[in-house]
Amino acid sequence: MDSKRTLTGLLTALQRVPGGSALIAGYIGLVRGLGLLRRALVPTEVALLEMIMGSYGAQALAAACRLGVFEHLAGGPRLAAELAGKMGADPGHLGRLLEFLAASGIVRGGHGEAYALTRFGRGLLAGRAGSLKAFAEFNGAAPTLQAWATLDASVMTGRAAFHIAHGEEFFPFTQRHPAFAALFDRAMVGFSEAMGPLFASAYRFGPGTVVDVGGGCGALLAGVLQRQPDLAGVLYDLPEVVAAAPAYLAAAGVAGRVEVVGGSFFDGVPAGYDYYVLKNVLHDWGDDECGVVLGHIARAIKPSGRLLIAEMLRGPRPFPLPAAMDLGMMVLTRGGRERSRAEFERLLQSAGFELRSVVSASAFMSILVAEPVSLHLQQSGPSVIPEQIGVPDIGQEHVPGLVPGHVAHLDHQNTMAGRTGQESGS
Ligand SMILES: C[S@@+](CC[C@H](N)C(=O)[O-])C[C@H]1O[C@@H](n2cnc3c(N)ncnc32)[C@H](O)[C@@H]1O
Repeated sequence: MDSKRTLTGLLTALQRVPGGSALIAGYIGLVRGLGLLRRALVPTEVALLEMIMGSYGAQALAAACRLGVFEHLAGGPRLAAELAGKMGADPGHLGRLLEFLAASGIVRGGHGEAYALTRFGRGLLAGRAGSLKAFAEFNGAAPTLQAWATLDASVMTGRAAFHIAHGEEFFPFTQRHPAFAALFDRAMVGFSEAMGPLFASAYRFGPGTVVDVGGGCGALLAGVLQRQPDLAGVLYDLPEVVAAAPAYLAAAGVAGRVEVVGGSFFDGVPAGYDYYVLKNVLHDWGDDECGVVLGHIARAIKPSGRLLIAEMLRGPRPFPLPAAMDLGMMVLTRGGRERSRAEFERLLQSAGFELRSVVSASAFMSILVAEPVSLHLQQSGPSVIPEQIGVPDIGQEHVPGLVPGHVAHLDHQNTMAGRTGQESGS
């Protein structure tokens, strides 16, 4: 077992013991404290150069991932020249890339020694649960870099850098660029595969049904259902995104307990379930769009239900990861942002929810647990379309024509209208 797994196992175990959350918070505080200590001690020029040249590291990782360097090392240590032969690469240039990766701790070796993967290199391997390979490639992809190149114009105008660079918003752009869309979806899978077990340990679902709204290919849902055999799920995302889900869910062994539904959360969400999950969804949108999505969920959720929002919470002091993610949202989306607990509390209140608790699920992910306030459940709205969706509860009858693990379509006639609405005014 490598140390990354040991750490995940440790966090999962800590979540189960009394007072475990406090220990996790202490661990997170220690890591952050060490970061602050390093910042206080490092010479100014060194710190600045590390930041300025930080993009070199991201580019080196993206290129190494695209070239399959880490997969070539997965079978065991290799000399640079041997690896270059395997890959058909230029030995000199590959050697320098490897030297940089070794200096960054992604691999070890060099200076005549064979290169081998460290735990960081293994975290970038294809096909490994929770791999960040696709996210590294997404960050180094041309459309992403072109958006970052317009950051200054974005700061001056308040417009999304992605829109300035590409003339349209992120999600409509992905519709016209399927390879980029697939890369983004894979990046999200990598993020969420690691989170599934942590999520299920941090928040104990009761038996029932959970709808993962904007759940991508189902990586988080699969992880949660694997841990909780008494739960069934609905995966809800745009039709073109959930098209890939049945195969993914089947491979994860949970397809029989998941109804896959395609549609836009701006038009409505599947109605009448116990739990609704929004993981890394609200941070893509401004407060108005979040209000629409939360309003649909408020009208759709069972009165006894729970809404679980998983995001990287911003604290009173800016820490590098949440602050970087926030900047990423500013570049890629119009209105998207990382929010503080107080900001979420306001959003939830105005949509008809009350925040009940906040649980740490990992070093960088919190779960906000909210319950519906009865007043808002009586409001009418377009979100309740029960006859059009599958009912995946174990033991309940399914709507004719909808088979677990198959893709159904919530009326998404207005899906594009919802997205177009998002574009207008930007
Ligand atoms: C940042 S990703 C998060 C995915 C997943 N929840 C996770 O954490 O891995 C945002 C998700 O929202 C979905 N999405 C964007 N617009 C949507 C819409 N109008 N209706 C439903 N889903 C949408 C995207 O397809 C994507 O899967």
